[in-house]
Amino acid sequence: MVQAAVFGFGTVGSGVVEILDKNAGQVARRVPGGLNVKYILDIREFPDSPYGEKVVHDIDQILNDPEIKVVCETMGGKEPAYTFTKKALEKGISVCTSNKELVEYKGAELLGIAREHNCSYLFEAAVGGGIPLIMPMLNCLEQEKITSITGILNGTTNYILTRMEQENAEFGDVLRQAQELGYAERNPQADVEAHDTGRKIAILASLLTGKSVRFDDLHVEGITKITPLDLAVAGQHGFRVKLLCVCKDMGDGQAVYAAPHLVGSDSPLYAVNDVFNAVLFHGNMVDDLMLYGRGAGKLPTGSAVVADMVTAAVHAGENVPIRWSGEVEKPAPFEECVNEFYLRVDKADADRIKSALADGICEDWTSDAAGEDAVFVTGAMTEGEFAAKTAGEPLKQVIRIYRK
Ligand SMILES: NC(=O)c1ccc[n+]([C@@H]2O[C@H](COP(=O)([O-])OP(=O)(O)OC[C@H]3O[C@@H](n4cnc5c(N)ncnc54)[C@H](OP(=O)(O)O)[C@@H]3O)[C@@H](O)[C@H]2O)c1
Repeated sequence: MVQAAVFGFGTVGSGVVEILDKNAGQVARRVPGGLNVKYILDIREFPDSPYGEKVVHDIDQILNDPEIKVVCETMGGKEPAYTFTKKALEKGISVCTSNKELVEYKGAELLGIAREHNCSYLFEAAVGGGIPLIMPMLNCLEQEKITSITGILNGTTNYILTRMEQENAEFGDVLRQAQELGYAERNPQADVEAHDTGRKIAILASLLTGKSVRFDDLHVEGITKITPLDLAVAGQHGFRVKLLCVCKDMGDGQAVYAAPHLVGSDSPLYAVNDVFNAVLFHGNMVDDLMLYGRGAGKLPTGSAVVADMVTAAVHAGENVPIRWSGEVEKPAPFEECVNEFYLRVDKADADRIKSALADGICEDWTSDAAGEDAVFVTGAMTEGEFAAKTAGEPLKQVIRIYRK
């Protein structure tokens, strides 16, 4: 039997404890004798929980117990999660986490500490919640040249966009509904401004390059300006609006960014609705490969953490290697990315803006659904070219169009 501890008995941490209990038989198939949660570290007491007697408040009680081989860090945030993780790894205790903020911030350093101390730092649940995608990417796709990764990796925004489209509802109204249902945080900024999805693509881009792609270096746009009118016009042409995070090979580097996109019905990403997440890899040999599932939630996310805990327990006393150095890798300049654009402008401004874009105009989508506005889509051009041609123009809406 391998002894474990849980740091943070919240949504995911309590899911981890429940899964290790309910699926003890499955776990024991790989970890002889099973994985036992000996301690739960939290600030609060949990007198009504069947696991309440395992709760402790002093991390040293856990770190000084030589039996503990694996910890799950599900406290979230940078501190004290960073300090606690570092201390555990320095003791040779493997740490498995769903904490994407910490993984993006200190992933390379914590992996290095794990390597030095013959233990592991694993974070499958930090990207895509319950979807196994990091280990498949690192193991099963290692031989591939991955030319693009495109993800819908934030369930809250995908839920909001789906409801806005289906109910012809405004962003603010759907956000409030989502908060009432517990799908959105009371402070929704990290989700709706695309910081969460940006952090996730920064992690995937770091794993792809083996270097540190920093969230702070990415171009990130959220969904707060998307309107039901845009969703209706897009719908008439066979598109949905999705918040995509993108990492694509530009030949001499990776373009890495997150922004709303129009996704056509010919893409498998079109059918990813509500709180579901998906990531679409394109490899030069395997072609398209999409992984789909629940990107959040107590049990799906807990399941991914438990998978890592099992791996860490099987490899207790050794390091499960993950290639990610501290050397900073700057993404390719955003201005050089080539995209097509959906544009909505006041009808009075349309001719002038169209002539500024000259032969870049592809199709006119103006219809009754657009009301007083003119809508058109451009052909492919670089972000820099688009910005220069539309500089100073009163654009009411700009959404990129996703093309494979
Ligand atoms: N929820 C999801 O579906 C999901 C999905 C994917 C990834 N994640 C990530 O997983 C992590 C955990 O998320 P969550 O939703 O489970 O959060 P949560 O429900 O807020 O749970 C965090 C728990 O850690 C406790 N905690 C905070 N500071 C602590 C400290 N210093 N010492 C001991 N315990 C402490 C909290 O106690 P208090 O409540 O008293 O503060 C709470 O019980 C986050 O990084 C999140 O982004 C979550």
